[in-house]
Amino acid sequence: MEFCVTKHKTMDSLTGNTVLVLGGSTGIGLAVAKLAAAQGAKVSIVSSNQQKINEALKELPAGSQGFVVNLADEAAIKAFFATADAIDHLVYTAGENLQLSETATLDIAAATKFWNIRYWGAVAAVKYGAPKIKGSIVLTAGSAGTKPGKGWGVGTSICAAVEAHVKVLALELAPVRVNVVSPGMVMTNLWDNIPGKEEMYEQAAASLPVGFVAKPEDIAASYVHLMAQRYITGQRILIDGGWVLM
Ligand SMILES: NC(=O)c1ccc[n+]([C@@H]2O[C@H](COP(=O)([O-])OP(=O)(O)OC[C@H]3O[C@@H](n4cnc5c(N)ncnc54)[C@H](OP(=O)(O)O)[C@@H]3O)[C@@H](O)[C@H]2O)c1
Repeated sequence: MEFCVTKHKTMDSLTGNTVLVLGGSTGIGLAVAKLAAAQGAKVSIVSSNQQKINEALKELPAGSQGFVVNLADEAAIKAFFATADAIDHLVYTAGENLQLSETATLDIAAATKFWNIRYWGAVAAVKYGAPKIKGSIVLTAGSAGTKPGKGWGVGTSICAAVEAHVKVLALELAPVRVNVVSPGMVMTNLWDNIPGKEEMYEQAAASLPVGFVAKPEDIAASYVHLMAQRYITGQRILIDGGWVLM
């Protein structure tokens, strides 16, 4: 019995692995970097802002690295991976603050740009990063891809597109595994553009089946699971406190 437990722990451990988190300076990405490091990985983070990276590195073990790359810029992503070391796992959690608009009032030019980081940035990171990746890729979508709401046309479409693309990538990049985490509401900077966000959290907590709104740490374990579980590919983990059931 003891042997089985030990064996299981070894399979799920990230000890000795290298993990690169694109969008790892705050929120979900930073929580993933911290948990991966706690499970024995050597972590690197990427974001567009050196100051935020410096702050994040204070929360990560000595030896962790940070790089400034604008993930809305394909050329910058290509240049970054041209000189990057080989890695075991790539995690993509980058995204700017939300912009919600009903279709009747949608600014199409702004909406077009809104695809750049969450969708095209992820696709470019996979395209240019794939030759360096030995183990797995975990992308990020959101529960909006499953449960629509008024004003969420673009956000819902991006989430659904990432989830669909992951299945194709799992075939194209095999044996590298490719999966996606789709969080529901999580307390991060992402909601800073939304007026009354604290009240929104309270209302959501009262109505969600689990009775609370997640913190980034509540989501991070799903990314680590997808990195460490070597028999899963092309799949989504929806982690939303029961939101899509309501
Ligand atoms: N929070 C939620 O409720 C929720 C729900 C569903 C899905 N998600 C998704 O989860 C992902 C992570 O979001 P979060 O909630 O953790 O928000 P967050 O704390 O704002 O994290 C976003 C990360 O993306 C980075 N980033 C933004 N623009 C960038 C750029 N041009 N180049 C490089 N990095 C950039 C940010 O760093 P810098 O600002 O330093 O560049 C930061 O590290 C997003 O894709 C989001 O859509 C979040």
